[in-house]
Amino acid sequence: MAIKKVGVIGCGLMGHGIVQVAAQSGFEVVALESTQPALDKGLARIEKSLAKFAEKAVEKGKQTEDQAKAFVEAARGRILGSLDKQDLADCDLVIEAIVEDLDVKNALFAELGKICKPETILASNTSSFPISEMGVASGRPERMVGLHFFNPVQLMRLVEVVRGEQTAEDVFAQAKAFGEAVGKTPVSCKDTPGFVVNRLLVPYMSQALLMLDRGDATKEDIDAAMQFGCGYPMGPLTLTDYVGLDTTLSILEGWVERYPNEPAFVIPQILKDKVAAGKLGRKSGEGFYKWE
Ligand code: CAA
Ligand code: NAD
Repeated sequence: MAIKKVGVIGCGLMGHGIVQVAAQSGFEVVALESTQPALDKGLARIEKSLAKFAEKAVEKGKQTEDQAKAFVEAARGRILGSLDKQDLADCDLVIEAIVEDLDVKNALFAELGKICKPETILASNTSSFPISEMGVASGRPERMVGLHFFNPVQLMRLVEVVRGEQTAEDVFAQAKAFGEAVGKTPVSCKDTPGFVVNRLLVPYMSQALLMLDRGDATKEDIDAAMQFGCGYPMGPLTLTDYVGLDTTLSILEGWVERYPNEPAFVIPQILKDKVAAGKLGRKSGEGFYKWE
């Protein structure tokens, strides 16, 4: 494995999980944030999750307390928190997990193209935007790939590996190998809107929100219907709270703008209203439901 040192930009809902699974799997990781409070919050989440894994490993008799402690310390020791992009210069792979806004992502990739060593593979965890465009913005489209993890990263077993129009074969192969090395099952995707999962999942979530717009059923009944009728682990409204209403809205707005004739891409009114009211889901304490 040529990849030894990994940079992760954004230590939010997704970024902190990517940092953690990479560090747990033996990679050196630079966790880059834009502010100290955001970095502190991300690192605190990693601590909490590592403690949970350690507790479970001891409970299940998989590790002794000393082994679990050593596992947590080793993972923690591989993470360097940083606010300075220059710390990414010698990373073999840099994964972007910042806000779902293509202009902001493109500006970041343009900077990374200048900062990172020529061999660095650049990856985006975007839910919905074209990898190829970010590659062009970076000035090294052949070294750009999509690495789309799922929430919560520590538990979900999939990673979508997305081939941009100019992604080099060895870059794609290394990205896939990295996905496997962090314990995920990689699937290969073309650079299409939403790749595989979100092309199916986000229209499903928005259809559930349209049911609320129309007053077809209550949120509790919609969620119970999909949980108990289809065996889904959580219903679509709980899932939207989990993903973040702001992120869901950004995905849909981006698609509606780019693909105005695609009937699956629609923006429910309730989603706009909730985001405007600051109800972003679990991350803000309230979305469709209240969260502790
Ligand atoms: N770190 C470590 N351990 C954790 C953890 C974390 N962050 N979160 C939960 N756990 C542990 C819990 O302690 C629990 O352990 P025990 O079994 O020992 O009790 C175990 O994992 C299961 O957790 P929970 O009991 O809290 O909950 P659960 O069994 O309902 O599973 C879930 C939680 C895996 C999230 C499940 O509800 C689920 O699969 N939900 C659907 C998630 C999903 O669809 N994700 C995709 C979102 S879309 C996306 O990501 C793409 C995009 O671009 C928007
Ligand atoms: P989030 O808002 O929880 O986290 C984003 C983090 O990036 C924040 O902590 C913010 O401080 C930081 N950040 C913003 N600009 C930055 C910059 N220029 N440099 C460094 N840090 C910066 O968002 P999230 O839910 O983690 O989503 C991140 C990305 O992952 C998005 O592209 C999203 O579409 C994608 N994604 C989200 C989910 C999900 O379920 N939420 C699942 C898969 C993929």
